[in-house]
Amino acid sequence: MSVDSCTGNDTETETGIGTGIEYVEDVSPGSGALPPRARYASSDAASLSLNGTWRFRLSPTAEAGSFAREGYDAGGWAEIAVPGHWVLQGHGSPVYTNHRYPFPVDPPRVPTENPTGDHLRVFDLPADWPCGDGDGAVLRFDGVESCARVWLNGTELGTFKGSRLDHEFTVGPLLKVTGNVLAVRVHQWSAGSYLEDQDQWWLPGIFRDVTLLHRPADGVRDFFVHASYDHRAGTGTLRVDSDVAGRVTVPELGIDVPTGEPVTVPVRPWSAEVPRLYDGVLATGGERVPLRIGFRTVEVADGLIKVNGRPVLFKGVNRHEWHPERGRALDLETMRADVLLMKRHNINAVRTSHYPPHPAFLDLCDEYGLWVLDECDLETHGFTELAWRDNPVDDDRWTPALLDRAARMVERDKNHPSIVLWSLGNEAGGGRGLTAMAEWIRARDPSRPLHYEGDRDCRDTDVYARMYAGHAEVERIGRHLDGGPLRRRRLPFLMCEYAHAMGNGPGGLADYQRLFASYQRLQGGFVWEWIDHGIAHPKLGFAYGGDFGEELHDGNFVCDGLVLPDRRPSPGLVEYKKVLEPVGITGDGTAGAVRVTNGYDAADLSALAFSWSYQVDGETLASGPLPVPALAPGESADVKLPAPPAEAPDGEAHWLIRAALAADTAWAERGHVVAWGQFPVSDRTPPRVPATARLRVSDGVLTLGPGTFDARTGALTAVGDVAVTGLRLDVWRAPTDNDEGAAWQDAPRCGPRWRGLGLHRMRHRLDAVEAGGDALTVRTRVAPAGRELGLSTVYRWTADGDRLRLAVRVVPEGDWTLPLPRLGIRLGLPAARADRVRWFGGGPGEAYPDSKAAAMTGRWESTVAGLQTPYVRPQENGARIDVRWAELGGLRIEGDPLFFLTARRWTTEQLDAATHRTALVPGDTIWVNLDHAQHGLGSQSCGPGPLPHHQLRVEPSEFAFVFAPDPGAA
Ligand code: GAL
Repeated sequence: MSVDSCTGNDTETETGIGTGIEYVEDVSPGSGALPPRARYASSDAASLSLNGTWRFRLSPTAEAGSFAREGYDAGGWAEIAVPGHWVLQGHGSPVYTNHRYPFPVDPPRVPTENPTGDHLRVFDLPADWPCGDGDGAVLRFDGVESCARVWLNGTELGTFKGSRLDHEFTVGPLLKVTGNVLAVRVHQWSAGSYLEDQDQWWLPGIFRDVTLLHRPADGVRDFFVHASYDHRAGTGTLRVDSDVAGRVTVPELGIDVPTGEPVTVPVRPWSAEVPRLYDGVLATGGERVPLRIGFRTVEVADGLIKVNGRPVLFKGVNRHEWHPERGRALDLETMRADVLLMKRHNINAVRTSHYPPHPAFLDLCDEYGLWVLDECDLETHGFTELAWRDNPVDDDRWTPALLDRAARMVERDKNHPSIVLWSLGNEAGGGRGLTAMAEWIRARDPSRPLHYEGDRDCRDTDVYARMYAGHAEVERIGRHLDGGPLRRRRLPFLMCEYAHAMGNGPGGLADYQRLFASYQRLQGGFVWEWIDHGIAHPKLGFAYGGDFGEELHDGNFVCDGLVLPDRRPSPGLVEYKKVLEPVGITGDGTAGAVRVTNGYDAADLSALAFSWSYQVDGETLASGPLPVPALAPGESADVKLPAPPAEAPDGEAHWLIRAALAADTAWAERGHVVAWGQFPVSDRTPPRVPATARLRVSDGVLTLGPGTFDARTGALTAVGDVAVTGLRLDVWRAPTDNDEGAAWQDAPRCGPRWRGLGLHRMRHRLDAVEAGGDALTVRTRVAPAGRELGLSTVYRWTADGDRLRLAVRVVPEGDWTLPLPRLGIRLGLPAARADRVRWFGGGPGEAYPDSKAAAMTGRWESTVAGLQTPYVRPQENGARIDVRWAELGGLRIEGDPLFFLTARRWTTEQLDAATHRTALVPGDTIWVNLDHAQHGLGSQSCGPGPLPHHQLRVEPSEFAFVFAPDPGAA
């Protein structure tokens, strides 16, 4: 019996420990937890965070020794950070599988080898903790993977499953002023694991907050904020239903009403674009809870998802929670970083794939403005290996667990204006359990439509959702030509996943966006996915599946995000930002005007300041503000441009129009560019090099203008005093993840076929060196061993006094049935000369044929290192598109026509062979690729390959480069 009991009650001695672990494999959601209720960020009731350093012991099986009694000495145990995953803190290691269960499938049984983490924390109550009569307290767990059993001061509170959902236990009578012992046993595997087969790392632990909440007598329990918006009347109707009666006040709106009573007043609506929140208070006899109220009405009407009467175009991403060191244990700043990055990249929607996120993330979505599709913590994808036999969602024994998950999501998150759709889960097949969830959710919250991609006929859902459908099929759906059941044909369409952003890519974003813009039924989608789940690793840089010796794993399929694991935006995100621009700026550069279209769903253009600049050969000659009316959503205007500057020199001229934030916002500063358009005014004059220089031969060396060649092979050895090595035709690129494609796809995959053909080991046969007069002609045939097809390649060199011109003519021979990875030349330059790279062309980032919207024509500068995109698994990257000229390694190179520039301190072969970034060590040579063409990227690592017009077809080609010593090189 404890003498310092907070409530005066006796504490009990430990019970239950070690007496059975049936709960681990029990299909029920658990026992002892309180019913779910609304989550609120704060109140005036006391609370105590139990995050911090806990004692920790790992056992190999679920039957670990007892530890929950008071006075248990855990002094010899390790320490662990809570929130955290033990496998990321030196105890065991993470496992990555996409959809396969990493244990034998025998539901609900799990392996005997079931890593079990005992967590122990001793805490005192703060001095001001209220200990009055009738005061209670609850202990709340925000996320524990995958199954927990909890004791406080030796008394068992219960068990629970549902890793990314809140669980609360009444603890008031057990609390003591000092020396409270909280013991939590966490099992990595449980029956719940069968419901949590999301494509991600398996990461056990107490990975979200643990909090003790004081519950005052007459305190708030559950409440439901209903805040709708009538777009015709411009009014909002607020009704707050509360289990415990009280009053609701919203001073700014003059609202002061009892709970349960509706009130209608003029308001500004909430939208992702203008996230207007009103501060209110729910006050019961014992507690005051701040409310952040957003008025908005979501409906499916006329076959469209409408918010506040207008259809919404979802420009979304799928967001898993991820931190490269802490896994799914996210701090507020990381969550905010995600939201800010999304807002700054024109993203307006998030699918919380595939579980409800940390609740604070939803607060941020309310505040900064993002449409949210909140998804339940449910996926049973591994049952696809059994042709979906024994799928828990079609087995009534599991239905209580499914309903528990649905209720815990909806009850916890229902008061967020940002949430506009509920999702039953992901890739769980079909079955009665899902229907039961849908019915429960509809009854509890009829105000939000339902999503579930696995429901192809839309029996239980209100939107037709698909993942990875190709452009042609999406267009058919947009045209209502996709057939299907009548109910589905009347529903709006969402791509809940598309554009697989694994490695270099995705390609084809602009093509999708054009479809979304063209067909009303297509209400946008969510790129897969937001972030690479690479784990920071001392030797590998970022680790992926297999790096921890997993017996079953799916490699780097876990790294398929728009941001790298450290949240550095990948070129795919920069492309997505451009493609999503909420303002259309179009024109042809010579018309004296541009057309500006407001593509927002709800906001006018008053928050943006437009400007123009006039550029010649990439240099800005003049610039100024461009007055644009505050167009309403959907409106367009033709906006006159000023006259081009009178004194503009000859050259390639462009207008560049920018729309930037006119003032600081919560998510970016004034001047942040939201949209831009660039229009050519005059064309480029290609470089002309009259063949005035004569060939000279002496001592086995040929010279032509600034070029020096080996007289026997015709190989270029120097330009001026810059040594050149290995110049030759190149068609190989280190296949991207999207080139490699997904093994399960029916469509032919380029990467394996390229390698099968031998494009990575082309042989160069020298047929003739013809030196005479003003030209050196080198005839070759480039072909892989064992094949009869090849590329007849002729290099023709000419020069004027200072510049050397290479014209390359490529004629395919044989039966080519594949596109090429790339077509151009490669050459080596000494790295010692200069690391600086300057170019006039597309930039500043990398671009490929089907991912080039974000490439702005201009003068750019970088270093060779800076040109690289550090994809977690090394692969082709870093090409700069539409390059007119470039200066690097002591040379100036001009293209005729424009070319792709790639430069790196390792060869393509080294890039291809590397499995992790750290394997790439800079050598003494800068390997430069000057490409006439590149194959598109597509997103075949899970979706379609590049569209036909982005494929690099094998056909006769001619292209030229002009080389000269770079006058600016030191
Ligand atoms: C989808 C799935 C995602 C992810 C993606 C591929 O089928 O819903 O969770 O696995 O494919 O990266």
